Amino acid sequence: MVTRDDVLSTLRGVRDPELGGDIVELGMVTDVAVVDGSVDVGIALTIAECPLRNQIEEDARRRVESMPEVDQVRIRTTGMTKKQRASLMSVARARAREGAEPTKVAPTTRVIAIGSGKGGVGKSSISVNLAVAMAESGLRVGLLDADIWGFSTPRMLGVDERLEADGDTKLIVPVVARGVKLVSTGLIIETEETALMWRCLMLSKALEQFLKQVEWGELDYLIIDLPPGTGDIQMALTRMLPQAEMVVVTTPQRAAQKVAVRVADMARRSHMPIIGVIENMAGLACDCGRVHEVFGKGGGAELAEDLGVPLIASIPLDPEVVPGGDHGAPVVISGTGSPAGAALRAAAEDMVRLLPPADLETCTGRIAKMLTELEGLPA
Ligand SMILES: Nc1ncnc2c1ncn2[C@@H]1O[C@H](COP(=O)(O)OP(=O)(O)OP(=O)(O)O)[C@@H](O)[C@H]1O
Ligand SMILES: [Mg+2]
Repeated sequence: MVTRDDVLSTLRGVRDPELGGDIVELGMVTDVAVVDGSVDVGIALTIAECPLRNQIEEDARRRVESMPEVDQVRIRTTGMTKKQRASLMSVARARAREGAEPTKVAPTTRVIAIGSGKGGVGKSSISVNLAVAMAESGLRVGLLDADIWGFSTPRMLGVDERLEADGDTKLIVPVVARGVKLVSTGLIIETEETALMWRCLMLSKALEQFLKQVEWGELDYLIIDLPPGTGDIQMALTRMLPQAEMVVVTTPQRAAQKVAVRVADMARRSHMPIIGVIENMAGLACDCGRVHEVFGKGGGAELAEDLGVPLIASIPLDPEVVPGGDHGAPVVISGTGSPAGAALRAAAEDMVRLLPPADLETCTGRIAKMLTELEGLPA
């Protein structure tokens, strides 16, 4: 007689190719019922519209059907609950951590990747401004431009220096701009031709260099400006920096369902937990006293709700952001009363609260923080 355990061990042969584990170990098999020769299997997918749905379903069916004494197989797939998804992520992350290769980023450094479901929503502007705001508040911050071909951070920080290697260690020394340690392909290539040469380098190789050959030193935060799209870079990142977490940037446009699916899929592929959502390009305050919702309203809150994470901030559309980015004067500092600048400064503070520097999380660090907070209270 075929037993439930037999079915489970057969199902261990079904792998989720992106997460790199079998569906039993990943907690995707929710139930198995065996009645005589009839087997009923429940499989929870990370998202109901999972692109791998058919493959996983068919693979499971084929394997169970091929078991002796099995006549009939029924596979039911469902979408995971938030709780199931969170526990799957932690299994996947633990696996990634086991195989992590050493980088020059200290394990105590908080790594925050800024990503989005689509391009042009303000990832780079937000990465640069958050990094500068954090550095201004005295934190040690690095900014890694992971947009290897479409880099924009050097321009946004007004840097035209080149990266150089340290004579002794031979490691690349980041350029410091506005208190932020910056590394970007834009600080290496000289001309369009050299840019073309870089194109030949595998994307993930370039990223690997930036993580393994750069003297990052002691950092509280490493902000990573992700390229648009969901691909190799994100995967390579988690492989090398398992502590990386993601902030998702979106516009206020509703009907973000497609974006939500894409973002959930991206996080799933890269096993990166999502810290929260930042909505960008929200209402533009006009001198006439009205607020123009150019890109709609509510998309950030909706996406945060869908993903089960907090909405960290809503950054308004602000004409000062563009020239600030073009002339290396990020609005968080240059903004004389810039609404986007103020919102970005507040966002940086909230992120530090959500994800405090690692050493503040030690017991002593926490007690010290508590005492400081108590000192601030009226007697
Ligand atoms: N809050 C804002 N108000 C006005 N303009 C903005 C705002 N945020 C970003 N921008 C402008 O929008 C454009 C796109 O921003 P940015 O380059 O930061 O987006 P991105 O998501 O990094 O794009 P890509 O996907 O190409 O990397 C830039 O010109 C930037 O100055
Ligand atoms: Mg960008």
